[in-house]
Amino acid sequence: MTVHIGAKPGEIAETVLLPGDPYRARWAAETFLTDARLVNEVRGMLGYTGTWRGHPVTIHGSGMGMPSLSIYVNELIRDYGAQTLIRIGSAGGMQDRVKVRDVVLAMSACSLSTPSRGIFRELNFAPTADFGLLKAAWQAAEALGVPTHAGQIYSSDVFYDERDDLQAAMQRHGVLCVEMETAELYTLAARHGRRALSVLTISDHLLTGEALPSDQRERSFGDMVEIALTAAFA
Ligand code: ADE
Repeated sequence: MTVHIGAKPGEIAETVLLPGDPYRARWAAETFLTDARLVNEVRGMLGYTGTWRGHPVTIHGSGMGMPSLSIYVNELIRDYGAQTLIRIGSAGGMQDRVKVRDVVLAMSACSLSTPSRGIFRELNFAPTADFGLLKAAWQAAEALGVPTHAGQIYSSDVFYDERDDLQAAMQRHGVLCVEMETAELYTLAARHGRRALSVLTISDHLLTGEALPSDQRERSFGDMVEIALTAAFA
């Protein structure tokens, strides 16, 4: 057990999927895993371990934002030995060609700051996905026929952003979408020599104001889980 995770040693798999929302962790575990059992519920942050096609998998909530994700990913890596960490989450589209419901594979994530900022000081570290996972996820998305984009995303510290100028600059430089966790996930994976990837579904759009209706969120979320699991064991 750690400060924030109640699982016993051996109860967390080497492959961990990380939705932000703990209820999505429960839905994904009940929908995709065999013999899923609850291994953490400290502070309501649910984690389940089961198997997918015979492979052990944990699906654990990360919470919203990089400080929350940093706590869980640090403990999953340092105390439970997680080797492959794949975020499955939602994001806001920032380019016309990136539509609501599309999947984005985050090759890299820019940010104003991350919880690791203090380590790097003047260095603009470029948090980057594991190439093997990225390639396998791309192939899995193609096989599923889901419209998918791969490129740079933005990991923001705020959902309600006031910086229109910054958004415009990122859009001019091809940033695909905004979410709130990936830059720190990739940084922690790099620090500890683990594999990481973010597979994101566009749930809303900054240019059009469109948002995915709640009854359609589950289907899109399911595609993302399938892409992540296929990539993890490719
Ligand atoms: N996650 C989903 N949509 C988002 C948005 N518009 N901004 C930040 N994070 C998000």
